[in-house]
Amino acid sequence: MNRIMIRRGVAGDARGISRTGRESFSRAFGHLYPLDVLERYLDDTYSEQKIASSFSNSRNVFIVADVDDEVVGFLKLKLACHHQLIHSECQVQVQKIYVLPNFASSGLGSCLMRSADAEIGGIRSVTAWLMVYEENRRAVCFYERFGYRVIGRDTYGFEGIRVPFTVMEKNYSNELRNTVDSR
Ligand SMILES: CC(C)(COP(=O)(O)OP(=O)(O)OC[C@H]1O[C@@H](n2cnc3c(N)ncnc32)[C@H](O)[C@@H]1OP(=O)(O)O)[C@@H](O)C(=O)NCCC(=O)NCCS
Repeated sequence: MNRIMIRRGVAGDARGISRTGRESFSRAFGHLYPLDVLERYLDDTYSEQKIASSFSNSRNVFIVADVDDEVVGFLKLKLACHHQLIHSECQVQVQKIYVLPNFASSGLGSCLMRSADAEIGGIRSVTAWLMVYEENRRAVCFYERFGYRVIGRDTYGFEGIRVPFTVMEKNYSNELRNTVDSR
């Protein structure tokens, strides 16, 4: 039987996170970029050194999913990261969530989201937000299941290729109020 663990990431996970990010991103979004641009994007965003160095910034929080002691999925939070469509003072971005293609649809992404939910829910009056590629409808539904709602659109550009994104938010102070009201 496979041993599954969801835990806080540490700098020693950089290699596993890098591999997971590269493979999963290429499979899901590789078609959006010419091959050479994709390679440069992957080197820029998912090189092992880049991931390792992002552990030295205390605003970055990684949650990883291990199967039999191998990293096969991760979620990255960026604390105190603001989006112009959101006016709350306290904001957290759910910046990345990736599960290796071979492990997709086996519940690991949901485990990562629940763990992130617990982490974010511990911050006072916080709004969490994320950007999801507009055509990635399955991912939009996935986030809706965790209480995120669509609030607008944005784009992200790399080497002149602009990709349209849906912006989603989850307001944790409302969630607390709803829980209290329904008692
Ligand atoms: C999105 C993702 C993190 C979800 O993790 P997971 O372990 O597959 O998710 P779970 O098994 O817990 O939940 C299944 C749900 O995940 C979503 N999902 C599963 N595979 C997916 C895929 N390839 N792409 C997008 N969403 C997917 C769907 O909402 C699915 O529900 P459905 O089967 O009713 O459509 C993972 O599939 C993944 O890494 N996808 C590719 C990269 C991606 O789209 N990341 C999000 C960027 S914004």
